[in-house]
Amino acid sequence: MEKLNIALIGAGFMGKAHTVAFSNMPKFFWPAPAMPVFKTICDIVPEIAEDSKKRFGFEKSCTDWRNIVNDPEIDVVSVCTPNDSHAEISIAALKANKHVICEKPIANTIENAKAMADAAEEVKSKNIITMCAYQYRRIPAVVLAKKFIEEGSIGEILNVRATYLQSWSADPASPLSWRFQKEIAGAGTLGDIATHVIDLSQYLAGNISEVVSNIKTYIDERPVQEGGVDLLGTVKIDSDAKKAPVDVDDEASFLVKFESGAVGSIEATRNAWGRNNFITIEVHGTEGSLFFNYERLNELQVCFAKDPDDRRGFKTIYTGPAHFYGEVTWNIPGMNIGYGELKTIEIYEFVKSIIEGRQPSTSFDVAYQISKVCDAVVRSFESGRWEKC
Ligand SMILES: NC(=O)c1ccc[n+]([C@@H]2O[C@H](COP(=O)([O-])OP(=O)(O)OC[C@H]3O[C@@H](n4cnc5c(N)ncnc54)[C@H](O)[C@@H]3O)[C@@H](O)[C@H]2O)c1
Repeated sequence: MEKLNIALIGAGFMGKAHTVAFSNMPKFFWPAPAMPVFKTICDIVPEIAEDSKKRFGFEKSCTDWRNIVNDPEIDVVSVCTPNDSHAEISIAALKANKHVICEKPIANTIENAKAMADAAEEVKSKNIITMCAYQYRRIPAVVLAKKFIEEGSIGEILNVRATYLQSWSADPASPLSWRFQKEIAGAGTLGDIATHVIDLSQYLAGNISEVVSNIKTYIDERPVQEGGVDLLGTVKIDSDAKKAPVDVDDEASFLVKFESGAVGSIEATRNAWGRNNFITIEVHGTEGSLFFNYERLNELQVCFAKDPDDRRGFKTIYTGPAHFYGEVTWNIPGMNIGYGELKTIEIYEFVKSIIEGRQPSTSFDVAYQISKVCDAVVRSFESGRWEKC
């Protein structure tokens, strides 16, 4: 079985998620497409780099990502740093002929997103693989929804309603981490979480062509967090701590038109008390409807128009071994999978793409298309009009 030497850059939340996923992939998917070898982990903070080497089982650690890009031993680079460094690191890694999985959003600016898609295009003929980590489209229930759509079970799509609602930044005492700084993050909720439901909407209904939007910042200054991993609101800083302005959005909502003629709406906020990882998508077709909610990620709700009047309504399918990625879904549907298994599915798809020499469905050009939608959302808020993507 082929081996792939893995290097990971940015050992925070996603660094942990990618490591768990690479390590679990062959345990679920066997025979694995290739065996990962944990070579080098990099974090700009020396203690985090050294600690995560021991914790995650890498052979080496470093604090400068260039050591990884310049290391001929490395086959695969996982980019898990905040958004402002995605372009520089990924482009350098691609130029050095490494396969790259980069966290979402692909970049902090539309120009950087394009440069990454262009760099990926340049090395495509050498079978260098790129993936942007839009993992939610790989949830077995979401893949099942896609199957229903492709089979025509809900007819022609009329409307897609998607939301991504969280609460972790609703408290004004949540610190001003990198996620609230435009220079690093590029955008607030729009880049951080709306991108995920843009991806889900486009996965199920095809590309979005036009948007009209509203964007809002509710909390315009926050206590300053000094460097380090973003603790996503789990840390409260004293009310007398130094404060600095927030220059990104807390909420973005927009109406969309799809190339197919379907219409829809997308809403995202991090200020919705009571909502945690509330990703929902509801698709209405001429012959039925589908509904998915990440907080119940092992379930898909379906309603078919052809059912008799007296029993038509949503029914729940619990995904399990009979469905997509049955290998990770344990033996019985109700046993359920979670975020860890989902990232494992993503890494499986990435490694399989490398071995098979074909781009995955979330390659850099697909991620760039999501950035184009975000760019149109910002332009629409400024112009007050529908804008093309
Ligand atoms: N796919 C998802 O569900 C998902 C979820 C959360 C975050 N993300 C994305 O993952 C990326 C990282 O987010 P996170 O939540 O893991 O952040 P984090 O703050 O938890 O961790 C980032 C780590 O990167 C390190 N770092 C920063 N700059 C660096 C550099 N130049 N070189 C090396 N290390 C550097 C930091 O010290 C920190 O340890 C972001 O792009 C974010 O949008 C994706």
